[in-house]
Amino acid sequence: MDGLETLRRIKKRLPDVPVVMLSGHGHARTIVEAMQLGASDFLRKPFEVEELELAFQKALENRALRQEVEELRGRAGKNRTELILSDEDDKMREVREVIEQVADTDITVLIRGESGTGKENVARTLHEQSDRSGKPFVKVNCAALPSELLESELFGFEKGAFTGAQKRKLGKFEYANKGTIFLDEIGEMSPALQAKLLQVLQDGEFSRLGGESDVMVDTRILAATNRNLEDAVQKGEFREDLYYRLNVVTIAMPPLRDRKGAVPLLADHFLRKFAEEYKKEPRQLSPETMEVLTSYHWPGNVREFENMIRRMIVLGSEQAVLQEIAQREAPEIDEVSSLLDLGALGAELANGNGVDLKQIAKKAARVAEKRVIAKVLQETRWNRKEAAERLKISYKALLYKMKENGLAESR
Ligand SMILES: Nc1ncnc2c1ncn2[C@@H]1O[C@H](COP(=O)(O)OP(=O)(O)OP(=O)(O)O)[C@@H](O)[C@H]1O
Ligand SMILES: [Mg+2]
Repeated sequence: MDGLETLRRIKKRLPDVPVVMLSGHGHARTIVEAMQLGASDFLRKPFEVEELELAFQKALENRALRQEVEELRGRAGKNRTELILSDEDDKMREVREVIEQVADTDITVLIRGESGTGKENVARTLHEQSDRSGKPFVKVNCAALPSELLESELFGFEKGAFTGAQKRKLGKFEYANKGTIFLDEIGEMSPALQAKLLQVLQDGEFSRLGGESDVMVDTRILAATNRNLEDAVQKGEFREDLYYRLNVVTIAMPPLRDRKGAVPLLADHFLRKFAEEYKKEPRQLSPETMEVLTSYHWPGNVREFENMIRRMIVLGSEQAVLQEIAQREAPEIDEVSSLLDLGALGAELANGNGVDLKQIAKKAARVAEKRVIAKVLQETRWNRKEAAERLKISYKALLYKMKENGLAESR
């Protein structure tokens, strides 16, 4: 049995195992045949140990990449994105039309809108409706990582590019090859990275950190932001040339408070979705509840709405949720001053119960924290990155505190 036959049998039984061929002669025909049979590489004797090492490494990396792609593909196939675009107002109709027009092109699209308005859903829908839909959709949150980490995340690095770079890492752009990359919160990208991104947009190529040769990628770029990019350009924080490159087509997601007509449709959609998910009886909302849902201003937009309906289904009651909305509408019930109600404290003391000073301090700090965060989020229109900066805490810490204080739901 010769080498080629061995290869054929291995591939038949264990198609995922990478095989590197070693041969004394290197006839072009044999090499081509080996490659067609699925060999990862072909080395001619004599060869250096390093060559072999490199061939193994490449083979393993390719396999890891293939598995990851399969996984992403599977995930994309299973749950299609639901995007309810009611026709009730002009803005939404426009969103729908633009999606239809550009989905099946490679045009870069900038998706704008407040937090929770559905920007990511739009990006996923654009991908799913394009002929790239069988390929990966790769999302990168540009606000979640410090600049250097984001750079290696996006563009990858070569082994030895910096201390700690023990092996080559592929960037998200490479993972998204033939597919779509979604750059979320693009407004937070550092100027140095903006320059590198501009290069990818212009030439379709980039180099890994510490790498010499350029990597070509065929990736469709979608970006989203809840930041006013024109302002950022004015302030010199966002490159004007990149702004124009990204802003070929813009989809502006209106806040939910401006399209209340969509509330019944969204309610219906989420009621059905969660009833199914939690195996509960589907229910209809009372006219009073609909009234409350329609009049509330939904600062967290569709995400907040979705979570409210989820809670209704899980709790099996509308009452708790209605109360919660009432509380959100009047968040200024003065918890702190009730804590400091000296009359009540006096009564406690007179009872001989004592006062738990530590408890009071903790509770007061908590209430103050929640309020300040809510206020700053409101001022920054729920731009969490900006809010974190104003609060002088990290982005991650803010997300944690928001969750802890019930200020927004994590997904
Ligand atoms: N039109 C819609 N139809 C159905 N679900 C929607 C719609 N818009 C938003 N959602 C749901 O609301 C939630 C928030 O949407 P998404 O993550 O797309 O918002 P976003 O604009 O990207 O928010 P952020 O700026 O906070 O990242 C998701 O769970 C999404 O499924
Ligand atoms: Mg998003």
